[in-house]
Amino acid sequence: MSKAIAFAEYGSPDVLRLTEVTPPEPGPGQVRIRVRAASVNPFDMKIRSGRMATAAPAHFPVIPGLDAAGIVDAVGEGAHVAVGDEVLGSTPGGSYSEYALLDRPVAKPSALSFEAAASLVTVGQTAQRVLAQLGVEPGQTLLVHGAGGSVGFVAVQLAVAHGATIVATAGEHDLERVTALGATTVRYGDGWVDRVKAAAPNGVDRVFDTSGAGVLAESVALAGDSAKVITIADMSAAEHGVRFSAGGGDQSGVSLAELARLAADGKLTIPVWRTYPLAEAAQAQADLEARRNHGKAVLIP
Ligand SMILES: NC(=O)c1ccc[n+]([C@@H]2O[C@H](COP(=O)([O-])OP(=O)(O)OC[C@H]3O[C@@H](n4cnc5c(N)ncnc54)[C@H](OP(=O)(O)O)[C@@H]3O)[C@@H](O)[C@H]2O)c1
Repeated sequence: MSKAIAFAEYGSPDVLRLTEVTPPEPGPGQVRIRVRAASVNPFDMKIRSGRMATAAPAHFPVIPGLDAAGIVDAVGEGAHVAVGDEVLGSTPGGSYSEYALLDRPVAKPSALSFEAAASLVTVGQTAQRVLAQLGVEPGQTLLVHGAGGSVGFVAVQLAVAHGATIVATAGEHDLERVTALGATTVRYGDGWVDRVKAAAPNGVDRVFDTSGAGVLAESVALAGDSAKVITIADMSAAEHGVRFSAGGGDQSGVSLAELARLAADGKLTIPVWRTYPLAEAAQAQADLEARRNHGKAVLIP
């Protein structure tokens, strides 16, 4: 038996309980890892709270968590890694656990910490996917909403490296760290449209909304076309003719391997904010829900 965090009903972080489970057996193409780090994503809280009960009903008990990094402990048929390899990837059955399955494990470069590796999976692949969907080109101006957050912080870096000019919105407390990435950063909240116009007098070519904070109507007006705006967090996207982008990275794992290499080479900073012991998963989720974080919370089983 091994330890995992699970919940058997929707509710506040208190429904998360430390429990004993049988480690899962890897199927074809999968591996089981001894989890060294599991990152907490806002999606975990959306599932736990019941906010997504209609779109994605839970089958209780649920072990939360999308992403993990760890050491391969058992290998399913056809998986191209070996016992003892250090890997990262997406977990089909939850990552808040001592042992987890990975569907398409990617080798973890030794220079990349387990914490950063686990933090990279959903965040990095989402940032990379949306920049490709927006068709951001060198020389274009991209507005990123929520650049102090995990996806936004990575998206800014990838877009800067691609040669785009970035205007970003962030909280007062995040202005400095986002500006240090090479973005012109303005404070979110009332008056943000005027601040963006002042920062980008020639307009913006594309908009990436990671905030879900009700910025789509003004963003469409700024970009001049709803097709130039994508959100990953605003459920009212369709009302504005805006694409809601969902889904993981490419199925081959190539993009995740590239992201891991960039991070290991120091060309991509993964915003790891805090680590927590596995047993403190409820506190980690509560901290994120209270918006105390500036980057990823990571559980260490
Ligand atoms: N569709 C997908 O594929 C996908 C994938 C990953 C994530 N997501 C979703 O995308 C969202 C962001 O994820 P994340 O991991 O980056 O979360 P995160 O780290 O919590 O970042 C959210 C950021 O938005 C900022 N924010 C709050 N109000 C804002 C406003 N009015 N204008 C601009 N920024 C504002 C927050 O600032 P403060 O810290 O000041 O509050 C925070 O920095 C979440 O809703 C998540 O569920 C979707």
